[in-house]
Amino acid sequence: MYNRRNIIRWSLVIILIVLVFWQVWLIVITVYNLLLGISDNTSFHPMNLSHPKIPPIIHQIWRTTNLSSYPISASYVKWQKMYPDYTVRLWTDVDLVQLISSKEYSYLLETYRSYPFDIQRADLARLIVLHYQGGIYADLDVFPRNRSIEKLRSSGASFIVPRSSSDSTVINHILISEQHSKIVDYLLHNVSPILFYQRIFLIPYLQVFSTGSVFLTRTLEQWMKSSLYQNNLLWILSSKQVSSYVGHNAGRSWHSFDGYLFNFINDLPEIS
Ligand SMILES: *[C@@H]1O[C@H](CO)[C@@H](O)[C@H](O)[C@H]1NC(C)=O
Ligand SMILES: *[C@@H]1O[C@H](CO)[C@@H](O)[C@H](O)[C@H]1NC(C)=O
Ligand SMILES: *[C@@H]1O[C@H](CO)[C@@H](O)[C@H](O)[C@H]1NC(C)=O
Repeated sequence: MYNRRNIIRWSLVIILIVLVFWQVWLIVITVYNLLLGISDNTSFHPMNLSHPKIPPIIHQIWRTTNLSSYPISASYVKWQKMYPDYTVRLWTDVDLVQLISSKEYSYLLETYRSYPFDIQRADLARLIVLHYQGGIYADLDVFPRNRSIEKLRSSGASFIVPRSSSDSTVINHILISEQHSKIVDYLLHNVSPILFYQRIFLIPYLQVFSTGSVFLTRTLEQWMKSSLYQNNLLWILSSKQVSSYVGHNAGRSWHSFDGYLFNFINDLPEIS
């Protein structure tokens, strides 16, 4: 019948428009946040403490202890060789679930499990291991240039985070933190599960940004404006400073087409 067909047709059109609008809206918000970046935090002035606040531990994360399954040559051995006097710890999926199931972190378990991508779990896990023990977290494609990163441990900072290569947002391929840092504690208490209506199906990779870089940027900004803010705890390194400490091989561990595209775009400034 004429009417019934029309109703079905128009309903489908409206549903389609709503779906597209929903996805485009999420993409716009995420891209907006990426472009907005983080304000300048000029209040941090490095000190040279005789007793470093940050312990000599390097944390890395992979699915298993089999590093040959990592897509490129992993930096684990390089960290071990350059820092023989440090503990270099590789956290596997099993170790992480065990830690997050413990009493101290069990409030994060549901969120951890809600993430659709491994890389999102790794984004959260690095904050948890840093909170738990303190130290230096480095992605497996991040390698030490020399021991100069060591002096950051004595800087007096509670949490040290790098800017992205565009110097707008902050990123998390390398993070440095004291144990039980108030800032990391704040971050962990502001993590929330990804709900269905927040899923970006059109460009899944953007979702990864939203739990990694965008989350870190927005929540640190929020912390700086909150009553919990304290001078001289947060140090935001420029991309230039970061690249004098560590190199980044950009061998990311996800393989969708948009992932490749964003890796490529993201790494352009570093290629030159
Ligand atoms: C920090 O101070 C110690 C002695 O207190 C000194 O040996 C070291 O070179 C200093 N480091 C930096 C980076 O200034
Ligand atoms: C480690 O991973 C590689 C590559 O995926 C695989 O070929 C190898 O069999 C694995 N080794 C072990 C001991 O599981
Ligand atoms: C470490 O490497 C960076 C970049 O290669 C360089 O600028 C810096 O001076 C080096 N530091 C030391 C202590 O060699």
